[in-house]
Amino acid sequence: MTESSQRRRRQFSPRRWPSCRKTATLAAVLALLGPLAACQHEAGTGPSLMLTGQPADGPVTAKRHMIVADHPLAAEAGREILRSGGTAVDAAIAAQMVLTLVEPQSSGIGGGGFLMHFAARTGAVDTYDGREAAPKSAHPYMFLDGIGKPMAGAGVGGLPVGVPGLLRMLELAHKEHGRLKWRELFQPAIKLARDGFPISKRLARQIASAEGLRNSPVAGSYFFDNDGVPKPAGAVLRNRDLAETLAAVAESGADAFHEGAIAEAVARAVGSAPHNPARMTIDDLKAYQAKKRPPLCLPYRMWLVCGFGPPSSGGVATLQILGILQGFDLAALGPESSRAVHLISEAGALAFADREVYVADPDFVPVPADGLLDPQYLALRASQITGAKAGGRRQPGMPGAGAALHPPHATAEAGTSTAHLSVVDADGNAVALTASINRPFGSRLMVRGFLLNDELTDFSFTPNADGAPVANRAGPGKRPRSSMAPTLVFDGRGRVVMAIGSPGGPRIIGYVTKALIAALDWRLDIRQAVAYPNFVNRNGALEIEKDTSLARMVPALKAMGHEVLPISGVSGLNGILVTKDALEGATDPRREGVALGD
Ligand code: DON
Repeated sequence: MTESSQRRRRQFSPRRWPSCRKTATLAAVLALLGPLAACQHEAGTGPSLMLTGQPADGPVTAKRHMIVADHPLAAEAGREILRSGGTAVDAAIAAQMVLTLVEPQSSGIGGGGFLMHFAARTGAVDTYDGREAAPKSAHPYMFLDGIGKPMAGAGVGGLPVGVPGLLRMLELAHKEHGRLKWRELFQPAIKLARDGFPISKRLARQIASAEGLRNSPVAGSYFFDNDGVPKPAGAVLRNRDLAETLAAVAESGADAFHEGAIAEAVARAVGSAPHNPARMTIDDLKAYQAKKRPPLCLPYRMWLVCGFGPPSSGGVATLQILGILQGFDLAALGPESSRAVHLISEAGALAFADREVYVADPDFVPVPADGLLDPQYLALRASQITGAKAGGRRQPGMPGAGAALHPPHATAEAGTSTAHLSVVDADGNAVALTASINRPFGSRLMVRGFLLNDELTDFSFTPNADGAPVANRAGPGKRPRSSMAPTLVFDGRGRVVMAIGSPGGPRIIGYVTKALIAALDWRLDIRQAVAYPNFVNRNGALEIEKDTSLARMVPALKAMGHEVLPISGVSGLNGILVTKDALEGATDPRREGVALGD
């Protein structure tokens, strides 16, 4: 282990980050940062804007605690837990269990996630990896068809299902940071599952448009009526199977899921799937372990931004983009500047070029995370950006002598499932949790009341390229590369100022970066930052959210040489900003969540 990786593996505390106290070790970074005068965030002091879709009202404010989640019932469950004296982790677990029920197409116990935690008492940041793992039967060629071409339709059925990790991860976080009894946290979801909940508009739309759901043995009869008609918005869904599953986990912990009858049912569902049956054993489920990873943190102007490291590419790429932009005065350019959009887009292209070749499961492939976030390397990357000319497709850089350059792996498709929630509790602890079953309704396989993920399709379908193995090729026990980017931001005294994250597949990186820049550089309030039109460059076209005010920048961006591509850009940014007076929360107007606090 190198000296720098040892340093990163010690428990990290932003309080030891000397943004207001210059030190020799950070001198090079601080030279780039400029004067560090105020370390307290003051939101909403930016220029006033009239952006299309901009919310007229301000953020939701609270004094004591707050949760922002993707569905009102999930946020309510989390707020009840906070009101009962629960911690941020307690509230996140209760809300996530409700999301398994009421937003089943996005995330749940049949999938995985990444959780970042800030402990106010100790100042420590912990990151919990509950990413799905490939079963022992997985191999690099598993997504190739009979003639060696990437398989079509591989996302449905048993083959794409990874061993779920959400519950083991939440249990580990609860052991370290929970206060209320584990059992209590499941009661809101169990009650709702028994009593029923109304199908939301978004869920109804997604039921009606999901391919392969109607014919799926269990999911078909849950989401469709006897005539095969999708259940509409407002219809009440009861899920007694899920109530039973959650009751078992509430009593016996995550082992009730990973061993015994539920594990057997999961393995059977994967093995007997009508499409792409595959081999997942009870031993695969039993062997799953949640992992604590070193958080990735980078000083950005007067803040310290911490993200999730590999196997997610979310933290590396988000921090790289910010680090590359460090030397550009985005605050002066402001949110209505096409030049700012150009610069952020260029930084995105450079970060995605590195992501394609370097980031995969670090337990299988050495990932040069330190090198990719080295300020000197980032400054070198930034020097490739021209003020007003698009650089086109970027090549990966060389972030240090030991970095192994793998062949590129193109990014997976961006979708509209996954869910992010942010929580700050009365003690000042914070959680950013992004959870997913990958595409809407995952593998379409439903067992014991929950949907199984199709997360293994985040592996590269092509195992080799240019005669060398792709870093993110599939393998037994390996976790597929993710883009999820739960993020925490700290001020110079190590106080948390922001918790945020989003769904959106690889576009998550662009969505989260946009919100961070909007809040930190442009001083938009959290609601404006979340609502600001999405744009992202994944080392190709500059993708811009259609029917937004960014349309007026398109001629200028095209004149700079950008290929502009309109996208629907449905993010689900759920964030909390901690200002000196209040907690300010905002949910993404593009989805169905709410911010609730007291
Ligand atoms: O881990 C990832 O990056 C993806 N599986 C997340 C999926 C997502 O956000 C929704 N769309 N595909």
